[in-house]
Amino acid sequence: LRVLMIGDLIGKPGRQVMERELTGIREDRGVDLVTANGENVAGGMGLTMSTAGALFDSGVDVITSGNHIWDKRELIPQLDGEPRILRPVNYGTEGVPGHGWGVFHATDGTEVAVINAQGRSTMIPIDNPFTEMDKLLDGGADALPPVRLVDFHCELTSEKTAFGLHLEGRVSAVVGTHTHVPTADHRVLARGTAYVSDLGMTGPLDSVIGFEPETVLPRFMNGLPTRFAVGSGPVFFNAVLIDIDPGSGAAHSIERISRIIEM
Ligand code: FE2
Repeated sequence: LRVLMIGDLIGKPGRQVMERELTGIREDRGVDLVTANGENVAGGMGLTMSTAGALFDSGVDVITSGNHIWDKRELIPQLDGEPRILRPVNYGTEGVPGHGWGVFHATDGTEVAVINAQGRSTMIPIDNPFTEMDKLLDGGADALPPVRLVDFHCELTSEKTAFGLHLEGRVSAVVGTHTHVPTADHRVLARGTAYVSDLGMTGPLDSVIGFEPETVLPRFMNGLPTRFAVGSGPVFFNAVLIDIDPGSGAAHSIERISRIIEM
């Protein structure tokens, strides 16, 4: 089983790359299931049903997210009815719309659980992702197939690494998102869990984590509030390709895909 997990898509450039490139990548590399973090595709902040629909039409099977999933209010009441859009599982259970995980079918028929969680270091202090994952994996293991992919939306590499090691041998893959900067530590941990601290974004290369430098720099230069605009130009495409034994759920390999795509 081969899955492709794509890092944070940024605005229209991110959507356009999916439209142009994803079908070819799926065919060339024999990809059975695609996840993409889509919390920043609607104008660079948040997600809407129409931008989500464009990603599904392009070949994304499951959209993961994070803190920006709540940015577009019109999406929130739709989340319960669209299981292919995930929000972090550890936002709690009382009155929180949407799904933190789901089971999906890869093109070869394999059942794949995709789980979205979110870190807490220098982020909003939601429920503990470590213990919430324990509850899901220990309590709900019957409902989960052996192949389990986790998008951990988190700021700190230390929290991400700890999370990967905590889940080692219990899930097929833990990939980090949120910082928009790829890390070079991708590897398969000893007990068969593919891991990378951050996938990196799929968005404008000549930007500050996806945004036009002129709209970001004033905040660092003199602390003035600015309105960020999505950047332009060549797009940095960042993802990982993971091969997994569908019977045991153990990952065999993780390959980083980083490409610069002229737009
Ligand atoms: Fe985020």
